[in-house]
Amino acid sequence: MEDPGSRLAGVFNSAADDFDAVTPQVWGPAGEALIAALDPRAGEAVIDICSGTGASVLPAAKAVGPDGRVLAVDFSAALLDVARAKAGAEGLGNVDVAVADVTTLEPGITPCENAFDVLACAFGVFFLPEMDDAARGLLRLVRPGGKVGVSVWHADAMADFAAAYFATVGEIAGDTGHQGPRAPGSGPRPIDRINTEETLAAWLSDVGGHDVAVTTVRLRVACTPEFAWKLVLGSGYRGALTELDDETRRRIRDRFVERLAAEHITEVNCDTLIATARV
Ligand SMILES: C[S@@+](CC[C@H](N)C(=O)[O-])C[C@H]1O[C@@H](n2cnc3c(N)ncnc32)[C@H](O)[C@@H]1O
Repeated sequence: MEDPGSRLAGVFNSAADDFDAVTPQVWGPAGEALIAALDPRAGEAVIDICSGTGASVLPAAKAVGPDGRVLAVDFSAALLDVARAKAGAEGLGNVDVAVADVTTLEPGITPCENAFDVLACAFGVFFLPEMDDAARGLLRLVRPGGKVGVSVWHADAMADFAAAYFATVGEIAGDTGHQGPRAPGSGPRPIDRINTEETLAAWLSDVGGHDVAVTTVRLRVACTPEFAWKLVLGSGYRGALTELDDETRRRIRDRFVERLAAEHITEVNCDTLIATARV
């Protein structure tokens, strides 16, 4: 059976351009909010994990300035290529990228424990198998007194959007075996354990954070048919389409946008929880 990690990496690798298409409305503002909450200082070393196309990498690189550095790690080479190109276009020479599974980082990719002042992870922790153990290991990369910050979807985020999407996929394609973070029927989902201010704070404290603070960033986007489909293709939702042919995907898209209109879903709730802590 295919390793779920390589399947997920394949989903994100196939999504590079689509993924970045929703950066202006979703990943970008959320990444800015995460880095604003972490407030890295000039000259600091930041490790950004599950970096995607760099939504939190770029603001981190600007914050730490030329004397600081940001290491962006993701197992999707295609997304990191976009992140690197964007950093170059903005003249940010302090960004390095590493293609790696963040749950099995190797010496040489991550220099050593305590090597970083700040660790940032935007919309990534809930993808990690054994999320708690993975987080405990990743926190060890940060020096004592350094900071860690994660962002995750709020419990209410995309609830009606996801329900309409997966109902449509089920209606047209049957069970696609999609195991994404918001897919229904895939057993207990890690994201459900950390999707309120209280549960996220308790989790971050449990995996080793101190002085935990959590805020909710309200992020709403008009649910036009164009944006709705861009969000599907530019996120983990596209995993449900991977095995399907173009005609089936088109039918799903058309039925999905019809359903959104019929259910009066005019806005996509992208509310995001931002948690920070000291290590
Ligand atoms: C929803 S995207 C978020 C990307 C980016 N942080 C942002 O906010 O735009 C999740 C990212 O996590 C990455 N990812 C998931 N599991 C991973 C793992 N085990 N190792 C490395 N990257 C992983 C995916 O490739 C994808 O780029």
